[in-house]
Amino acid sequence: MTAANSFFIKTYGCQMNERDSESVQVLLSARGFSASPSEGEAGVILINTCSVRGKAEDKSIGKARLLVAQKRIRPGLRVGLFGCMVQRLKDDLFDLIPGLDFAVGPHRLGLLPDVLASVLAGEGPRLEVGEERSEGDVLRGHRDGAMGAFVNILYGCNRRCAYCIVPTVRGGEWSRPAADVVAEVRRLADGGVREITLLGQSVMSYGRTNAVWPEGEASPGGFTEPFARLLEAVHAAAGGAWIRFTSGHPSGCTAEVARAMGTLPLVCPHLHLPLQSGSDRILARMRRGYDAEGYRQAVARLRAQVPNLVLTTDVIVGFPGETEEDFEATRRLVGEIGFVNAFIFKYSPRPGTPAADWEDTVSPEEKMRRNQVLLEDIDRQALTLHARWIGSDLETVVEGVSRRNSERWAGRTRYNITAIFPKVEGLHPGDRIKVRIERVRAQTLYGQVQAESNPANGASAG
Ligand code: SAH
Ligand code: SF4
Ligand code: F3S
Repeated sequence: MTAANSFFIKTYGCQMNERDSESVQVLLSARGFSASPSEGEAGVILINTCSVRGKAEDKSIGKARLLVAQKRIRPGLRVGLFGCMVQRLKDDLFDLIPGLDFAVGPHRLGLLPDVLASVLAGEGPRLEVGEERSEGDVLRGHRDGAMGAFVNILYGCNRRCAYCIVPTVRGGEWSRPAADVVAEVRRLADGGVREITLLGQSVMSYGRTNAVWPEGEASPGGFTEPFARLLEAVHAAAGGAWIRFTSGHPSGCTAEVARAMGTLPLVCPHLHLPLQSGSDRILARMRRGYDAEGYRQAVARLRAQVPNLVLTTDVIVGFPGETEEDFEATRRLVGEIGFVNAFIFKYSPRPGTPAADWEDTVSPEEKMRRNQVLLEDIDRQALTLHARWIGSDLETVVEGVSRRNSERWAGRTRYNITAIFPKVEGLHPGDRIKVRIERVRAQTLYGQVQAESNPANGASAG
């Protein structure tokens, strides 16, 4: 049985999108729509879209066309889009996807319940897009009972890297007032959340373009920069939950942020710090705002305070004008810094960005080759870096049964690396344990639960 007002959300894109989908689900449920366990049973299917690369858009459009085609055999089915691609393509979407019922941009998600109601009442198709986000657009709903939670602190982006569509679709930077963020963290901690991830495109820019703290208030730890102060305040409100944040930018890796990371014990020693390229020439063309030396120094500042800091990164291969020499410079810097994981992206021209006017000089085959080479470099590097943990007891939060093998459980270490261990009586998702690492692979650590760290044996949840 399909209820007309039951909905299912399919999400593409980054963590901001995951977070938005969660809020939308809560919002729609609060307005009397019911979340459907599967796409096949839903009366309304919503796709949360991403525009960051051409392929990301192709996926959302392809999916929407398939769903619209199902209307013939599923009368009453409604299909809608929300998120970044709606901001970019607006009413063109209704030509690209004939039969689409609605599309709502990322700054207007609060209107989704009304849009859905009007579409179900036969008033479609509907398009809602707005230019800038404001405080009134912040969606605060979180799923109940989850072990981890994302908390938005900074919307949009002011950096305008030459290749990037995000500032166009997500707008300029706007930081949530610190008190609002801290209140949300406290609510989540009261609800039992064990891990909090602060989200922003360039998260360390928090509070740079609008005021987030009341004037004249001193931070207990003597922090003056808005992001470092926020880490301190979130740490105090988190009820023992671990704290992560993403993504970083070298310009935000100040001595103060490093000190906050090093001295606040719940802040996890891992950072996703996109590099994009190791060639000064390409970094300048990308308008990243740092060169190879600037990136090195940012990492050095962090490591001075967080000695075991684990880094992951993003790299774009085949940016316009990237020569073999530029690519080799990237490989060298990647090798020098030491990343345990990286997302390697093949450059994709995005209409309207400055780089889209430059000749896409690297062939698809060569982009593919550079992608493969870097992935292999990173895997080799990860094995070497992980090997240092063999014989150590790593604090790990239990996530649940391993997807690959039901006799094993999976957890995540403070370093954000998955640890796999044999099933142990009495463990529950969310428990914090210690895993003694015995062997490593590129993406995974393997070991044994240290019995005295099992809450079932009387260890405190810590
Ligand atoms: N705001 C984040 C990431 C935004 S998009 C940050 O700057 O850290 C995620 C990643 O997609 C980027 O880090 C970049 O590596 C990649 N990316 C963005 N635009 C791209 C494009 N046009 N082609 C290929 N990769 C791109
Ligand atoms: Fe895009 Fe650069 Fe902003 Fe990241 S920092 S969202 S890559 S413009
Ligand atoms: Fe994609 Fe939008 Fe995130 S373009 S990467 S979903 S901010």
